[in-house]
Amino acid sequence: MPRPAPLTALALLLAGTLVACDGGVHGTPGAPGLRDPYFPKAGNGGYDVTHYDLDLAYDPDGDRLSGTATLTARAGQDLSAFHLDLDGLDVEKVTVDGDTARWNRTGQELTVRPHDDLDEGRVFRVTVRYSGTPRTITDPDGSEEGWLPTEDGAVALGEPTGSMAWFPGSHHPSDKASYDLTITVPEGLRAVSNGELTQSRTSGGRTTTTWHTAEPMASYLATLAIGDYDIHTSTLADGLPVYTAVDPEEADASRKVLAQIPAVLKWAQDTFGPYPFSSTGAIVDRQGDAGYALETQNRPYFPGAPDTGTLVHELAHQWYGDSVTPRTWRDMWLNEGFATYAEWLWAEDHGGDSAQETFDALYDHGEDDHEDLWDFPPGKPSGAAHLSDSPVYQRGAMVLHKIRQRLGDTAFRALLRDWATTHRHGNADTEDFTSYVEDLAPDEDFGPVWEEWLYGDGKPTEP
Ligand code: TRP
Ligand code: ZN
Repeated sequence: MPRPAPLTALALLLAGTLVACDGGVHGTPGAPGLRDPYFPKAGNGGYDVTHYDLDLAYDPDGDRLSGTATLTARAGQDLSAFHLDLDGLDVEKVTVDGDTARWNRTGQELTVRPHDDLDEGRVFRVTVRYSGTPRTITDPDGSEEGWLPTEDGAVALGEPTGSMAWFPGSHHPSDKASYDLTITVPEGLRAVSNGELTQSRTSGGRTTTTWHTAEPMASYLATLAIGDYDIHTSTLADGLPVYTAVDPEEADASRKVLAQIPAVLKWAQDTFGPYPFSSTGAIVDRQGDAGYALETQNRPYFPGAPDTGTLVHELAHQWYGDSVTPRTWRDMWLNEGFATYAEWLWAEDHGGDSAQETFDALYDHGEDDHEDLWDFPPGKPSGAAHLSDSPVYQRGAMVLHKIRQRLGDTAFRALLRDWATTHRHGNADTEDFTSYVEDLAPDEDFGPVWEEWLYGDGKPTEP
């Protein structure tokens, strides 16, 4: 064998170097946020989460949560590093595809630097081991979310950014994923989450329960309620499983309203189309545990026994909000306008005021009940502190009523169903909606509805 000529050896060396370079630093860091108009740092750029596997343990005595979050994600670019959103808690270890990764934290951003770059299109798994006392986050509007300790346990509520208080992720409504959640609590307590309960086991004084959410879920809709609950399971006529968890103190007050779940869902399916998820139910906590209800996926959360209107509202969100999810927080009226309009329609269909009467009353003297009704247009909330104000809810519903007036009842009812079907399990924004409506009735002029009702400042001059 002749020795390789010096030139060949050099070529081999160079080639080797080039190959090493190619496998090395060619990725760039993913963006720390998705530039939401109201919460710019929420979510993360450069990848998409497809699945969350959360394995958690909670001890209410010490208010201590510990766990491992395993996210399956797909790189949307060549990544040298990427961010996760996590507010509070102590991170103990991070791995990417089994290899220990470097990480650091600033504010709500957990930056992960994998050992090797991740090529665009690569499906990878990141695990984060963490523990600590989770934070209660005060929203820009003053309400509390994130992790809320209660008399008998805790509840996790995530709208708009609270879920980063209890698990790391891409916490923006545009990045939906399926979930598996395993939660271990002291024996005697219940732990209720989204989706379906697939397993529950007690040993050594601790109960471990597993919940599976197959349909895509935005992280703000993820919940975990731990405490003393009366559990009731049943199935609807069409086979849909119903799981309700009610704080014993609210049992009497809840019985009648929760008995309406089958009737509300039947009406909602007639009105909005097929129910989008594989189970339903409700979580009713004690008064004062949280100041508001939330449309947590599959089973909404209520702070005390709800009235029928609130039950209708939160169940309607399963179509509008949970299945068809806003692309950014600016599109919030697509959630709240629809859920509010669902209350109006329920009343109209059950011997109460017609939606026209509700609309007229709001137009004529809505400021009596909602001082801020005309403060800003539903399509452009005046700030993060105002996402849950009346212009988003009541005036958002008024936009839908203006569309109904132009389309007529039959076409409007078809719109409610078809909008939910078209974007089922996806995301949509306000422009998707306006162009969708215009395509339905090309001869109709919706310009004034958008200009005055959806985007216009102040009270529209014509009701
Ligand atoms: N989406 C809830 C509902 O209407 C209300 C709500 C709770 C909310 N937290 C929020 C709205 C934060 C906006 C922002 O049932
Ligand atoms: Zn709502």
